[in-house]
Amino acid sequence: MNHAVRTPHPGLAESPFLRAARGEQPSHTPVWLMRQAGRSLPEYLKVREGIGMLESCMDADLVTEITLQPVRRYGVDAAIFFSDIVLPLKAVGVDLDIKPGVGPVVASPVRTLADVEAIPDLTPDHVPFITRAVHQLVAELGATPLIGFAGAPFTVASYLVEGGPSKEHARTKAMMFGAPDVWDALMRKIAGIAAAYLRIQVEAGASAVQLFDSWAGALTPADYRASVMPHSERVLAAAGELGVPRIHFGVGTSNLLGLMGEAGADVVGVDWRTPLEQAIPLVGDRAVQGNLDPTLVFAPTEVMTQRAAEIIDAGRAAKGHIFNLGHGVIPSTDPDQLKALTEFVHDY
Ligand code: CP3
Repeated sequence: MNHAVRTPHPGLAESPFLRAARGEQPSHTPVWLMRQAGRSLPEYLKVREGIGMLESCMDADLVTEITLQPVRRYGVDAAIFFSDIVLPLKAVGVDLDIKPGVGPVVASPVRTLADVEAIPDLTPDHVPFITRAVHQLVAELGATPLIGFAGAPFTVASYLVEGGPSKEHARTKAMMFGAPDVWDALMRKIAGIAAAYLRIQVEAGASAVQLFDSWAGALTPADYRASVMPHSERVLAAAGELGVPRIHFGVGTSNLLGLMGEAGADVVGVDWRTPLEQAIPLVGDRAVQGNLDPTLVFAPTEVMTQRAAEIIDAGRAAKGHIFNLGHGVIPSTDPDQLKALTEFVHDY
């Protein structure tokens, strides 16, 4: 691929985000915010007017603009690529949409081996707009790292099997418990797509990746280890071969943090329910990312920054610490609070 001919910005490798991800001690605690690009920003709502979510994700210029918006506004230490975990499925031809206020909706849920086999593997030809957007972004971002991402097999499987968002993931887990051959084929299929999607982003210039297993917290450690972890391991191993740090994140995963690290992460993302003091000994010789409760931005600024200070102090015991929220930015968040938060983390 043509990544070899593109010279990375000289400051990139020593950026605070990449240093913390490698377990080094940067000059300040790096910060970025999950869902920093999106509905909390007026400039986002403006450029998205009249354009569907998936349509926006397939427009390289729009992806570039939206990805840069929070970097310009907040001065965060990393950009997260504007896309969605279901975009690669859409790109290979799965009939799905992202409905505003709902999330991904799949026209024909996946239930049988034939359904799984009908999903094509992902190749760069399916997503030329991704490669182009990443090229544009790394040129614009200079020394600020771009984080590529993919949905982990369990979380993506949940959307495919349920046909939409789910609290219980009941059909998904029923397949996992009751039809192990279909489950295995589905997880292998999604793992292959996720690995290919990450490879495309990294070869185009992304300098770290995050694997989102948002709903893995629905599993017991034994079920996670037996039926999910081997598939996430394959995705993380493929990303590891590309030589970039790998962040592995899920919600409600206090009992899975050790396994999520062992799956092949360099950085384990922690949601706000687990104090970092508790998380750090569980993740082994790895950095942590997190974990301010996303609702604290609705509290007075001093209350929010006091909690942020406690998190930064706790993070000093980790091999490396990247400050973030414990889950995504809530759409009604005041951008000025996120600006104050970013500045506080940099100055503390
Ligand atoms: O800023 C960023 O973090 C980058 C962009 C990003 C989006 N989705 C854009 C988006 C990222 C990293 C994701 C990942 C994603 N998508 C996850 C994992 C992260 C997490 O939150 O746990 C999941 C589970 C999804 C699936 C999904 N897509 C959901 C649950 C939703 C929200 C539905 C809603 O509207 O409440 C989406 C839609 C989505 N993805 C939006 C954005 C900006 C909103 C779309 C809109 O503007 O209408």
